[in-house]
Amino acid sequence: MFIKKKRRWELPESAATPEHVFFNRRNLMIGAGVVGAGAIGAGVFGAGIFGAGDDEEIFVAQETDQTLDLYPAARNEAFTLDRAVTDETVASNYNNFYEFGSSKRVAAEAQALRTRPWMLSIDGLVEEPMEIDIDTLIRRMTLEERLYRFRCVEAWAMAVPWTGFRMADLVSMARPLSSAKYVVMQTFQDPVVAVGQRQSWYPWPYTEGLTIAEATNDLTLMVTGVYGKPIANQFGAPLRLITPWKYGFKCVKSIVKISFTEERPVSFWEELAAQEYGFWANVNPDVPHPRWSQATERMIGSNETRPTMLFNGYAEEVAQLYEGLEGERLFA
Ligand code: MTE
Repeated sequence: MFIKKKRRWELPESAATPEHVFFNRRNLMIGAGVVGAGAIGAGVFGAGIFGAGDDEEIFVAQETDQTLDLYPAARNEAFTLDRAVTDETVASNYNNFYEFGSSKRVAAEAQALRTRPWMLSIDGLVEEPMEIDIDTLIRRMTLEERLYRFRCVEAWAMAVPWTGFRMADLVSMARPLSSAKYVVMQTFQDPVVAVGQRQSWYPWPYTEGLTIAEATNDLTLMVTGVYGKPIANQFGAPLRLITPWKYGFKCVKSIVKISFTEERPVSFWEELAAQEYGFWANVNPDVPHPRWSQATERMIGSNETRPTMLFNGYAEEVAQLYEGLEGERLFA
């Protein structure tokens, strides 16, 4: 499949004249200043607001990313790798983003997602629920670049330079109540733009969760950039999670909602196949997936096979999070 190579900070072709008027004949688009703070979350993006038939024309201004000047962010040298960083072109064209299809070649399809304006809502067991614009949020946080290993449950791996901020800082901004035990994160829902969401057998929107202790661990990043630039759509723009000691399916993309709860959430893959994908999903070479071994991993790009590491090599930083939880399915 042909994927047009774009520089990652470029807007998709459909939005190439940001301060001008964007003309589109068929798609439903979200316009700057038209979608207010309340118009986020399930079923709101694109649905009904600008409804139009094939013959209608829609003129909507696009708002641009207001944080371009923050990239590249300074690298945090504390995080080093035992392997080469995966080539950017390779990583950018091998993604899991089921909202845009179930193949790895979803980069072109994902460009349909409008990532500005983008509102994040924070609710549940917090002192005060809030809605915050993504650029305002990013400016309130401190961006840094970290080189992390990335391990998918499908037994492939990469090494990626992510840019983001510590999720601990977002949690402290949210001011959760002492009764909050979990942080639940959800992806946008817009089946007009995300064709995969028309497949109703999936439990959309994509949902994932962490304990508060996991969310506030120093390794846990809210990612806004990759390869020294704002994050490209197929990686989960404009905001995604990275927990490098867990299988990649925990790393929810394109987040619109963060809720603090007392109850453990049931995540997207867990709801589909609980016997294969659990809540904890920590990397462990000795605990096979029901259908394949996790003893080794294949590096995307080089096809080199490497032994899988416990907690993906981050045991020193995270193993203590699981003390006393040995009765749980920590590694599936
Ligand atoms: N988030 C959403 N919203 N939708 C998805 O399909 N796939 C997950 C995770 N986050 C997924 C998602 C899986 S299975 C993996 S392995 C990683 O994203 C892939 O991240 P990458 O495409 O940046 O490598």
